[in-house]
Amino acid sequence: MSLKVAIIGSGPAGIYTAEALMRQAPGEVSVDVLERLPTPYGLVRYGVAPDHTSIKSIADYLRRVLELPGVRFLGGVELGKDVEVADLLDCYDAVVYCTGAMLDRRLGIPGENLPGSVAATDFVNWYCGHPDTPADRFVLDSPEVAVIGVGNVAVDVVRILAKTAEELRATDVPQEVLARLAGSRVKTIHMIGRRGPEHAKFTLKELRELGELANADVRVRPEESDADVTGASRQVRGNVEVLKGWAARTPAGLPRLLDVRFRMRPVEILGEDRVEALRLERTRATENGVVGTGEFETLRVGMVLRSVGYQSVPLPGVPFSETTKTVPNVAGRVRDREYVAGWLKRGPTGVIGTNKSDAAETARTLLADLAGRAPVRRADLDPLLASRGVSPVTYRQWLAIEEAEIALARTLGRGKRVKLLGLAAMLGASGR
Ligand SMILES: Cc1cc2nc3c(=O)[nH]c(=O)nc-3n(C[C@H](O)[C@H](O)[C@H](O)COP(=O)(O)OP(=O)(O)OC[C@H]3O[C@@H](n4cnc5c(N)ncnc54)[C@H](O)[C@@H]3O)c2cc1C
Ligand SMILES: NC(=O)c1ccc[n+]([C@@H]2O[C@H](COP(=O)([O-])OP(=O)(O)OC[C@H]3O[C@@H](n4cnc5c(N)ncnc54)[C@H](OP(=O)(O)O)[C@@H]3O)[C@@H](O)[C@H]2O)c1
Repeated sequence: MSLKVAIIGSGPAGIYTAEALMRQAPGEVSVDVLERLPTPYGLVRYGVAPDHTSIKSIADYLRRVLELPGVRFLGGVELGKDVEVADLLDCYDAVVYCTGAMLDRRLGIPGENLPGSVAATDFVNWYCGHPDTPADRFVLDSPEVAVIGVGNVAVDVVRILAKTAEELRATDVPQEVLARLAGSRVKTIHMIGRRGPEHAKFTLKELRELGELANADVRVRPEESDADVTGASRQVRGNVEVLKGWAARTPAGLPRLLDVRFRMRPVEILGEDRVEALRLERTRATENGVVGTGEFETLRVGMVLRSVGYQSVPLPGVPFSETTKTVPNVAGRVRDREYVAGWLKRGPTGVIGTNKSDAAETARTLLADLAGRAPVRRADLDPLLASRGVSPVTYRQWLAIEEAEIALARTLGRGKRVKLLGLAAMLGASGR
């Protein structure tokens, strides 16, 4: 067997799929990883918080996969723009879609489209230096902001808002973004959960970090931190214990305040030309879920960051369920010779490691399906791309971008690397 496989997307799911294929069928598979950006690693580069450097170092593991003989990285190639599904099926024995979940979920409340009401996806892209989001996208000129949602992304977002630029100086945050963070006027950050603390999605380690911030006090109302945790998991009991501890704290008078709220749901974002306030309603749990109590509160915030989860976007020519916002599949199989892995397969939940077993399952299905098939002579993708004027960013060119980022950090006297901002800067550094 000598299989040619195209993997679309170079986030953890795509790279773990490449690794699983090479491991499960050593010497029998060659893999092209096609990525719309000039840079690999998906959310490991453009999602994981810049101050979580040990998690970022997963990129060192993923890098080794891209360097395996038989694996090729082709950056700057987008499915739906530069290539279509039919092209891929002509050129490869199988295609694996691993394009993640790039879009924010919506709240569905009035005022959501006002300027100043922004998706966490956008804010995360900004501080991570994603080329889709320019440096001038955010001006942190409001003393009071609200972050809706109590998942780990919300925790990342409030932590970045609460820290000083000096605390983030040693991270890879682009220099232009760091300058804007240094000019931040944010004083109070409200993080808002619509249910009780026992239902919060954040994990204990991430929550604890918020209580140790050097630049911000943390506040929780005793009545909102209270919860019945009988029979709950260790994680939930731990979260509630930490929150109760915070409720008993005396503020140290630090420059910023992190105000953690529970059982409050957003009902309207208010403002004329931009966000001026957020209206919340207290909730209570019933057998049928959360209901409003008719008790309202208005926060005078100038920015609302909606961190209520991600969703995948359909790929042209690929089946997609509008209900689950995923590609329907059985153990990773979509249709004959088409497969899926990662967030596009199972939805936007789970840590980086979750994608490893997920990718291994897809690789197993693919190899079992194609075992014993008569070899087919496939077309070559490179001349097809060239005929369309598409010149992929090679792995070596990506390494040149990395080197430029390391050199920039040295020049600026900052940590290990500072991200280049914008496609032009990256392509310039790639030596093309
Ligand atoms: C803000 C944030 C922070 C996170 N932090 C952590 C953390 O600290 N620790 C942890 O364990 N997990 C974390 N996670 C979860 C983790 O990032 C995900 O589990 C994981 O990245 C999902 O992998 P994926 O490959 O499915 O998607 P992604 O990582 O999103 O990769 C998808 C890739 O596909 C590319 N792509 C998209 N469309 C196309 C197209 N049409 N053609 C070609 N390429 C395309 C994208 O550019 C991207 O590179 C975080 C998630 C988010 C959102
Ligand atoms: N350090 C890390 O390990 C790390 C960092 C970042 C992300 N991640 C992972 O990435 C995945 C995605 O994280 P996420 O934070 O985007 O998603 P998430 O964990 O699903 O959290 C989403 C939050 O939004 C709330 N929400 C949803 N709809 C809402 C609405 N209409 N109004 C008010 N609140 C609403 C949810 O509340 P309900 O529960 O009430 O629906 C929940 O609190 C998770 O698996 C996460 O663990 C991990």
